[in-house]
Amino acid sequence: MLVVERLCKRFGGFLAVNQVSFELRQGEILGLIGPNGSGKSTTFNLIAGNLRPSSGSIRLEGKEIAGLPAHQICHNGIGRTFQIPRPFRKLSLIENVTLAAYYGQSGAISRAEAYRRAAEALDMVGLPSDESTRTEGLGAAALKKLELARALATKPRLLLADESLGGLDRTEMERAADLLGSIRSKMGITIIWVEHIMGVLMRVVDRVIVLDHGEKIFEGAPAQAAVDPRVTEVYLGKPRA
Ligand SMILES: Nc1ncnc2c1ncn2[C@@H]1O[C@H](COP(=O)(O)OP(=O)(O)O)[C@@H](O)[C@H]1O
Ligand SMILES: [Mg+2]
Repeated sequence: MLVVERLCKRFGGFLAVNQVSFELRQGEILGLIGPNGSGKSTTFNLIAGNLRPSSGSIRLEGKEIAGLPAHQICHNGIGRTFQIPRPFRKLSLIENVTLAAYYGQSGAISRAEAYRRAAEALDMVGLPSDESTRTEGLGAAALKKLELARALATKPRLLLADESLGGLDRTEMERAADLLGSIRSKMGITIIWVEHIMGVLMRVVDRVIVLDHGEKIFEGAPAQAAVDPRVTEVYLGKPRA
């Protein structure tokens, strides 16, 4: 479904993403993990069109999308959440998600249809779809769900979920992981899921890629990642000789 080849992103003299290549099959949940600053969000920003690659190729179902602006990539079927949720604070939840549904389809659907899709997306993530619930006072878990609802409302075939577990407690993490699992099973959406911790992600993903300093250092089954010497070194530090 997605083929990323030798993707690079340079900020001045600093290579944040260095020759990253991977493939994604339709229906898969791929985990993209790595310590803070390893280039995970930058990789998402390149795929979703929020940043232009310095070099490399990104093909979605055979079509080159590297360098397209974010709205066109969204219209091509890639939805994403942001690590730091920034909803429209003065709008209700349903209004926030309706905007995503409407502009995610480039205005090709009616307002009524956008509203209906927004209610569906809010239902899917378990947030209220009434007209009065606002974003003020929402906790971390609800804000992360709102991010997912906004992404789902754009009707993606591929969802990029950035740090969906950030700021959540243990129970909330389990629920968020189950939610991503059911987004795949019930909605048939392919997912790339970024986290800096391994944790519950490892139960849900089919395959995992590990980044360190912008480079891919591992690709394989979650169980193998947990015992791979390079991966454990990155996460736990160098073993003493
Ligand atoms: N717009 C930017 N300008 C300069 N450096 C950036 C920019 N965005 C990210 N970086 C740097 O690139 C590296 C990777 O960042 P990021 O992709 O956000 O990491 P992760 O999501 O894995 O924590 C970090 O060192 C970060 O400071
Ligand atoms: Mg990040």
